[in-house]
Amino acid sequence: MHASDIEGDLSTVLVTEAEIHAKLAEIARRIETDYAGKDVLLVGVLKGAIMVMADLARELRLHVETDWMAVSSYGAGTKSSGVVQIRKDLDSDLTDRHVLIVEDIIDSGLTLSWLLENFASRGAASIEVCALLRKPEAAKVEIECRYVGFDIPNEFVVGYGLDYAEKYRNLRDVGVLAPHVYS
Ligand code: XMP
Ligand code: MG
Repeated sequence: MHASDIEGDLSTVLVTEAEIHAKLAEIARRIETDYAGKDVLLVGVLKGAIMVMADLARELRLHVETDWMAVSSYGAGTKSSGVVQIRKDLDSDLTDRHVLIVEDIIDSGLTLSWLLENFASRGAASIEVCALLRKPEAAKVEIECRYVGFDIPNEFVVGYGLDYAEKYRNLRDVGVLAPHVYS
């Protein structure tokens, strides 16, 4: 099976690879201006943020360090509960660091809200968020997100790092899964 065959499992493409790359380039220019003269620590949230991290980091003409955090949020089904468990903590000390959290998506906002509070207690000089996608209609808490790629409808999406049962992360575009995939 050729990798692109999985594109056929999407009912709608919401954001194409080309649109993602153009947007990340725009965001990177803003980050370069905002962080001029500062060392940035990019913190990717595993696993969804792997593609955004890879493409954003390579787009940046700045010194960056990268680190990763893995969290899982407890709760029924696929919905985020806001009760978060750290599955892999950072390797870095955040004291006096300029931290930029790199996320795939802000859905309810509960995970990021927990992460922001957790990071704030570690003495960072600044903490900002960059999220490729955001679902405004799904927000349970407001997240101050300085860099947002695309606002999308309140539907479950896959691709570009986002998964359904660990599959579809390798899709180049972001889209909505066709109903036949679930049944
Ligand atoms: P929230 O903001 O609700 O989101 O705490 C927490 C995490 O859930 C994942 N998520 C998704 N994953 N398609 C996915 O594949 C989606 O539509 C989706 N919405 C949320 C994602 O990892 C996010 O960081
Ligand atoms: Mg995530």
